[in-house]
Amino acid sequence: MAKSNSTKPRFSLYLFTFLSFILFASTILLIHDFLFIFPPQLQLHSNDADLTRSHTVHTCDIFSGRWVPDELTRPLYQESDCPYIQPTLTCQQHGRPDKEYRRLRWQPHGCDIPKFNASLMLESLRGKRMMFVGDSISRGQYISLICLLHQLIPQHAKSMETFHSLTVFTAKEYNATIEFYWAPFLLESNADNAVIHRVTDRIVRKGSINKHGRYWKGVDIVVFNTYIWWITTGSKMKILLGSFKDEAKEIVEMSTVEAYRMAMKTVVRWVRMNMKPNKTRVFFTSMSPSHGRSIEWGGEPGGNCYNETTPIEDSSYWDSNSLKSIMQVIGEEFKKSKVPITFLNITQLSSLRKDAHTSIYKKRWNPLTPEQLANPTSYADCIHWCLPGLQDTWNELLFVKLFYP
Ligand SMILES: *[C@@H]1O[C@H](CO)[C@@H](O)[C@H](O)[C@H]1NC(C)=O
Ligand SMILES: *[C@@H]1O[C@H](CO)[C@@H](O)[C@H](O)[C@H]1NC(C)=O
Ligand SMILES: *[C@@H]1O[C@H](CO)[C@@H](O)[C@H](O)[C@H]1NC(C)=O
Ligand SMILES: *[C@@H]1O[C@H](CO)[C@@H](O)[C@H](O)[C@H]1NC(C)=O
Ligand SMILES: *[C@@H]1O[C@H](CO)[C@@H](O)[C@H](O)[C@H]1NC(C)=O
Repeated sequence: MAKSNSTKPRFSLYLFTFLSFILFASTILLIHDFLFIFPPQLQLHSNDADLTRSHTVHTCDIFSGRWVPDELTRPLYQESDCPYIQPTLTCQQHGRPDKEYRRLRWQPHGCDIPKFNASLMLESLRGKRMMFVGDSISRGQYISLICLLHQLIPQHAKSMETFHSLTVFTAKEYNATIEFYWAPFLLESNADNAVIHRVTDRIVRKGSINKHGRYWKGVDIVVFNTYIWWITTGSKMKILLGSFKDEAKEIVEMSTVEAYRMAMKTVVRWVRMNMKPNKTRVFFTSMSPSHGRSIEWGGEPGGNCYNETTPIEDSSYWDSNSLKSIMQVIGEEFKKSKVPITFLNITQLSSLRKDAHTSIYKKRWNPLTPEQLANPTSYADCIHWCLPGLQDTWNELLFVKLFYP
């Protein structure tokens, strides 16, 4: 009797010590997570339950997976609810008959990804600048993010303005801006005019990142992308050594892969000199694939993305326009970066989406000829993506990498 009386308090003391330890350990782990996720300036007070539930997302390869139909949660917004989508991407408005392409969700093989939380994203952007830099593909990803966020902001507290190469979305009550800067090569080029840039003879100026880079200084989160403009000129690229103002221009030809490497080295250097590892985040979106030849995925000869309504099922499919040599250059150069660059490796998952392009369902700036109208394949756009659509997934993955690195 006496014995059991004395063990009771001892037992609860053990239990208490044990529980305290658990509490202590989990607090340390949580704090550690938070510091990692929101380095000093990016800290946030949140009790996001997803944080503990989806811890495997830190270790799983979220870019490896498959597309699954999800009628319940897709699309993440309606085309008509997002006034910011350019008419070149509003496929439903331009008569696209099918809707299944908007109802696919990306399911990584190794884990479930946390839901995109617009309020968490906006809270963490409070007092900050986020910027997308690149070409029209980059602009699509930018608009997708605005569409994912803007419904939480009342009409009077948001605005979007364009000044030459820079487009700025402002969330006034958050003192936050989300911006897009047109620089299709990142470096200075003869395609830098934000409106008139249809040059066939493309020239990039060596080492010239500051022409644009001075407009990116001070941003807290930057998302770079550059690819399609490099490869549409073939396997060689013209590189200007002097200045575009020189009367006798000194131009050399370089292989596209080496020219791209030169650009990546310049980007990594800019990042080292301008971004602070503790306070800022740098992302790079990998090559966006195109679907110009249906024989590549076993379709009819002479076809392209036109009339495609389902994704490619073979999850190892890789389109021939997404050069593996460029992917390798990106991997090699980013590895050398002292400031971490988070790579959004969306090439493979997007390669499967032959159904997600704008195809013929977009605004045309020039009227179509009778010959074109008779053959829709001839004018289908198999580079850009409908919104809502694939690029929302890129941003869901960006969200995951931002909050669960
Ligand atoms: C989204 O994030 C906010 C914090 O800003 C949090 O309060 C809320 O519970 C989150 N929502 C979900 C569904 O996780
Ligand atoms: C708004 O954000 C900017 C940074 O983008 C910062 O410099 C400024 O101090 C902020 N203003 C207020 C009132 O918080
Ligand atoms: C960044 O963090 C490291 C270690 O936590 C610290 O030594 C360094 O001073 C910080 N740098 C800045 C710019 O805050
Ligand atoms: C579009 O695809 C459907 C079924 O896949 C096919 O029956 C139809 O002939 C195709 N239309 C054109 C114009 O290729
Ligand atoms: C991106 O993913 C593909 C496969 O999906 C892989 O082959 C490639 O090495 C990855 N690139 C980098 C730089 O990690």
